[in-house]
Amino acid sequence: MSSPKVIIVTGANRGIGCAICTSLLSHPSQISHPITLFATSRQGSNLNLTTSSSNQRNLYPSLDITSSSSISTFVLKLKSSYGNVEVLINNAGVNLDSDFPPSNARKPLDTNYRGTLDVCTAILPLLTPKTGRIVNLSSAGSSLDPFNPPSPSASEPCPRLKTSTSW
Ligand SMILES: NC(=O)c1ccc[n+]([C@@H]2O[C@H](COP(=O)([O-])OP(=O)(O)OC[C@H]3O[C@@H](n4cnc5c(N)ncnc54)[C@H](OP(=O)(O)O)[C@@H]3O)[C@@H](O)[C@H]2O)c1
Repeated sequence: MSSPKVIIVTGANRGIGCAICTSLLSHPSQISHPITLFATSRQGSNLNLTTSSSNQRNLYPSLDITSSSSISTFVLKLKSSYGNVEVLINNAGVNLDSDFPPSNARKPLDTNYRGTLDVCTAILPLLTPKTGRIVNLSSAGSSLDPFNPPSPSASEPCPRLKTSTSW
């Protein structure tokens, strides 16, 4: 039997992360291939995900993506028991509200940007060469386009750059 593919989902305890796990476990290709799913959450809660095949193993370790000690504890266990990682799905994230007071700016940056980057950096050395992949969930709200719209024509500088030359 081939060795199980290791799949990691962050923030798997609710919302889209939980839906990703459920969908992965019921996908026909995953039923035929052995997988070990790390459905991680801050609390390390047992999510009681339903497996549809004896090929599947679900584990529920704790992983807080903003905590370097949580990341290193998780990666250490992963490395010692499982080795290669086939897929890392960076789902964990925060969306505080539609207001943007300065006090709300730090947490999304620490979680959505720095936390995700730290998890990627820690897992990257374990990613299966050639086939391993990292999937990041993002939002249209994080696009930089509204702040720097594309130039109407390739030969013209974009409006923002035009403005800056007159400063
Ligand atoms: N829903 C949308 O319409 C939408 C749109 C665009 C992008 N997204 C992105 O899709 C992803 C999931 O969205 P969602 O709607 O499912 O969000 P959600 O229901 O708020 O769930 C967010 C998940 O992230 C976890 N999380 C937050 N901070 C964490 C941390 N420091 N370490 C580990 N886990 C952490 C939460 O855990 P706790 O339960 O412990 O808080 C929860 O499991 C997010 O990255 C979000 O930015 C969603």
